Amino acid sequence: MFSKALSLALLVAVNIVSAIDMPTISAVGAKFFFSNGTQYYIKGVAYQLTSLDPLTNATQCTLDAASMADLGANTIRVYHTWTPSTPNSIRQVKALTLEYRILLIFTSLQALPAWNQTQLSAFEEVLDAFQQYDNLAGVFVANEALTFLNGSDTAPFVKAAIRDVKAYRQSKNYRDIPIGYSGADIPSLRPMLQNYLACGSDQADAADFFSLNVYEWCGESSFDGSGYNELVQNATGLQIPIFISETGCRIPKPRTFDDMDSILGPNMDDVFSGAIVYEWIEETNDYGLISYGPTVNDMSNTAALDGYIRTGTPMPVSPDYSNLKSHWATLHPTGVALSAYSASASSLTPIACPSSTVNGWIVDPTQTLPSVGQTIDLAATSTGGLGGSATGNVKPSSTAKKGDAAAMHTGNEVAGMGVGLIGVMLGFLFWL
Ligand SMILES: *[C@@H]1O[C@H](CO)[C@@H](O)[C@H](O)[C@H]1NC(C)=O
Ligand SMILES: *[C@@H]1O[C@H](CO)[C@@H](O)[C@H](O)[C@H]1NC(C)=O
Ligand SMILES: *[C@@H]1O[C@H](CO)[C@@H](O)[C@H](O)[C@H]1NC(C)=O
Ligand SMILES: *[C@@H]1O[C@H](CO)[C@@H](O)[C@H](O)[C@H]1NC(C)=O
Ligand SMILES: *[C@@H]1O[C@H](CO)[C@@H](O)[C@H](O)[C@H]1NC(C)=O
Repeated sequence: MFSKALSLALLVAVNIVSAIDMPTISAVGAKFFFSNGTQYYIKGVAYQLTSLDPLTNATQCTLDAASMADLGANTIRVYHTWTPSTPNSIRQVKALTLEYRILLIFTSLQALPAWNQTQLSAFEEVLDAFQQYDNLAGVFVANEALTFLNGSDTAPFVKAAIRDVKAYRQSKNYRDIPIGYSGADIPSLRPMLQNYLACGSDQADAADFFSLNVYEWCGESSFDGSGYNELVQNATGLQIPIFISETGCRIPKPRTFDDMDSILGPNMDDVFSGAIVYEWIEETNDYGLISYGPTVNDMSNTAALDGYIRTGTPMPVSPDYSNLKSHWATLHPTGVALSAYSASASSLTPIACPSSTVNGWIVDPTQTLPSVGQTIDLAATSTGGLGGSATGNVKPSSTAKKGDAAAMHTGNEVAGMGVGLIGVMLGFLFWL
């Protein structure tokens, strides 16, 4: 989904075991590993109930976590987490929630193409708050900051954010919480964006992982027919982990989630680290796996937002929920043990930086990354600067043709829109 605001968000993983000594997750070479040496594959759901932090209501998290465990999920992705103005009482609730085994990867979206001290400080505050939880699996500095090929001049700002958040993590001696990016489903940006964020002789500047939102396997398809085979080809040789941070076309119905067999099976499990299904709650965009009750037509009902109840006991959306559950129940990739992999991981060389082309990927790989406080010089770019959609949440036509044409991803994860050139939502930056 398009979302370019500075906001603080998270990708969380549910791991509903008892709450003692959970192994942490780190990126080693092109794979993720638990600290006990087992490879980590993501079976995730996008979890964002409203545009506010879903982790502040421990009661609700507990209800949802039980259902996610039933589904077979081990990861949740949260797009908006607490903000600097969150009261301490709420943070404590969050702490309880996290100890409740919501293993998480968290995200911080950001306003681009700017990278400034306000944003960096907000990211630092999130890292300070969350680094203590073993179930924090990673951090996204942004979600879908680039939405067209002509927006490639935004990429250096994403990479600068990654560099600075990683440097902060090191300066505080936090564990190596993976810091990465979640890319929009824009074929014309592939694989340049992925390679650009990973490349370079100084890996302190590079992403710890790359992930992409993909709506390409819709209805009856296959590994080859969907283009997933090319995703694998294009990610082969990438020296950092890659996974799918959103998937799950909703047209045609029913949603079968057949792509899971490829992602978490032999077709892809050597190169990809799993996938996150979009999304948990059924709402206007119709991507939900569960609902909290029938839709409400009475718009004055404050328990419902946009006609959807957003708290309570989750009830499966049929047959989507059970279709996904059936796939996940059969898929248990084991990958490789860290002990067998670490030698080859240390000999991996960074992927080459994509070269720049006029009217294409315009980023000059030899150019120094922006420093904190730098903004884009629109006049100086050949294409007039960043791309982006004014509405912020319409799926790109490039993917629409594959079957999700009508998809309007007006989920609550996309509330942070168009900060780039548009800037009309700036007042909400810390809340979206
Ligand atoms: C390591 O931890 C993960 C997550 O808890 C678990 O699934 C896996 O079985 C563990 N591996 C070993 C070797 O204990
Ligand atoms: C940083 O950028 C954000 C978003 O563009 C803006 O709201 C904020 O005021 C900027 N901060 C500084 C210090 O320029
Ligand atoms: C793979 O990379 C090629 C360029 O090398 C690109 O044209 C193609 O669209 C990419 N495929 C996918 C599925 O990303
Ligand atoms: C928290 O979740 C519970 C359980 O669904 C719900 O009853 C309560 O209203 C929620 N609290 C808030 C502040 O949304
Ligand atoms: C970028 O490309 C998109 C899609 O092709 C187009 O709609 C938009 O106007 C372009 N923006 C600029 C600034 O050229």
